[in-house]
Amino acid sequence: METIVFATGNAGKMREIREILKDMDINVLSMKEAGVSAEIVEDGTTFEENAVIKAKAIAHILKGHADETLQHAIVLADDSGLEVDYLKKEPGVYSARYLGEDTPYSVKNQDIIRRLTGVPDEKRTARFVCAIAAVLPDGEVFTTRGVIEGRIGYQETGDNGFGYDPIFYLPEYECTTAQLTEEEKNRISHRGRALRAMQQELEKRILSI
Ligand code: IMP
Repeated sequence: METIVFATGNAGKMREIREILKDMDINVLSMKEAGVSAEIVEDGTTFEENAVIKAKAIAHILKGHADETLQHAIVLADDSGLEVDYLKKEPGVYSARYLGEDTPYSVKNQDIIRRLTGVPDEKRTARFVCAIAAVLPDGEVFTTRGVIEGRIGYQETGDNGFGYDPIFYLPEYECTTAQLTEEEKNRISHRGRALRAMQQELEKRILSI
């Protein structure tokens, strides 16, 4: 059976990937379950670059792991963020670091709303982007991308989700991503889409091994 190590410490992301890969004969481990920890500098300029940096770093560490199954594991890593068109795609790859890593999202969200003061609906377009990188046991690297399009709202709305969800308005659903349940959001989110694209790629490649 193939083993996948997903380079995240986030329990929500682990739940989501396990759910999406559940029909494949694959053992999915978090970094903690694989006994790996690392401080990785994400200095890429695109979501894909950062995802590849993380996946390669973890794959490199696993090559020296005592457990042979983990030496041959598939490593996945993701990177995501918010692009606001009016702000020239800021905060982009700096989404987590925008105004400082430890600054509350209420402050970050209010700042984005302020920077869009007077900007009409049609110019408030934005998207969440998620890139997922895979490093296969033979060293092959590839990425998938998922996107969800929306608009920056005029105030924070909703208590679900995290990060920029309360200001990310979905015109077709007439609510923000912070007003969706976890299940509803996973069905349409950037991460859900990137994960499902990754699932299809892995299925193709593993079946062809
Ligand atoms: P990371 O890829 O987990 O490092 O996420 C990067 C940052 O992008 C997060 O800290 C959030 O600020 C933002 N972000 C990514 N996905 C979402 C989302 O689904 N909702 C709200 N914010 C998000």
